[in-house]
Amino acid sequence: MTKTFKAIQAIQIQDDLDIDLRDIGEESLSEGNVTVDISYSTINYKDGLALLGNQGRVMRTIPMIPGIDFSGKVVRSEHNDFNIGDEVILTGWGLGESHTGGLSQKARVNGDWLVKLPKELSLKDAMSIGTAGFTAMLCVMELESNGVKPSNDQILVTGAGGGVGSIAVSILSHLGFEVVASTRRSEIHDYLQELGASSIIDSETFDSVSRPLMPELWGGVIDTVGGNVLGALIPSVKYWGCIASCGNAGGINFSSNVLPFILRGIKLQGVESVYASIENRKIAWDRLAKSLSKSKLNEVTNIVGISEVFNIAEQILEGKVKGRTVVDVNNF
Ligand SMILES: NC(=O)c1ccc[n+]([C@@H]2O[C@H](COP(=O)([O-])OP(=O)(O)OC[C@H]3O[C@@H](n4cnc5c(N)ncnc54)[C@H](OP(=O)(O)O)[C@@H]3O)[C@@H](O)[C@H]2O)c1
Repeated sequence: MTKTFKAIQAIQIQDDLDIDLRDIGEESLSEGNVTVDISYSTINYKDGLALLGNQGRVMRTIPMIPGIDFSGKVVRSEHNDFNIGDEVILTGWGLGESHTGGLSQKARVNGDWLVKLPKELSLKDAMSIGTAGFTAMLCVMELESNGVKPSNDQILVTGAGGGVGSIAVSILSHLGFEVVASTRRSEIHDYLQELGASSIIDSETFDSVSRPLMPELWGGVIDTVGGNVLGALIPSVKYWGCIASCGNAGGINFSSNVLPFILRGIKLQGVESVYASIENRKIAWDRLAKSLSKSKLNEVTNIVGISEVFNIAEQILEGKVKGRTVVDVNNF
């Protein structure tokens, strides 16, 4: 008899999608040349959508195991770069979307997608960072390659209380940037200051932007919210400044104007983490391992068992989750 393991699995029952914690076998996993015993996964905004929101937009084949990232130990490998016992991280590459994902005790994946765990991090630390932290670092790297430096005045992080936002605030302050955190939640101001924000503004500030060019404030921006917030912050970006746009938690459409682009030379740089190159992944994870202290990671992290994921999904879709939620897939 094949050995079973636990996973959150979505199956189709007539017209309905049924997503639940089930006992399944390896035949339910997508193909791959490396098998991993997963230790931790996480709940990102996209996982919230997969578990409870518009599932079809995230899970593109059914049956599917959701979960867009994981950390764990290799237990079988036909890939030259990985051996049994190696500790590895995987984010993106269609995991939980077109390839069975991380909310499971096991995964079978393409070894070309894996990154070896940096020696400074534990498997839990890696998922405290997860897709959100990896994306935050890609945003920082884009700002840097567009000329934004710690001397370029303040950097704005929107949706600062969320996963990407919290890690972005921590990384930027570690790198010596003066970070302004934008949030809708007054109760998390102390938390954001502990992560390194030098000041905090209410996201509602952006509702009152009325002119095509506002006083110059931001040398760079990491925007996780999109929508009206993105449209409204554009007129306040400084000459030659850059916005790294990675999220749409507040909506996908925005309205703004061209004057900041043609009169101040500002840049709007999209950031995509799912198919980031393996070279950029190695650079980003190496930098993450060196930029985030254990105390900051503990500060942003809440750990839950795998059966709690639906509850967390509801909270993340309502914008109520603070920081990162790590899922211990071996705790039910
Ligand atoms: N491009 C990529 O490859 C990539 C990778 C990872 C994530 N993302 C995207 O980045 C975004 C953030 O992801 P996450 O995992 O950090 O999500 P998250 O933990 O839910 O954080 C999102 C934050 O955005 C703010 N927010 C939510 N709804 C809002 C609204 N209607 N108006 C204003 N602010 C709102 C909230 O911050 P406050 O409570 O502080 O206001 C919330 O905590 C998501 O859209 C996600 O899909 C993209």
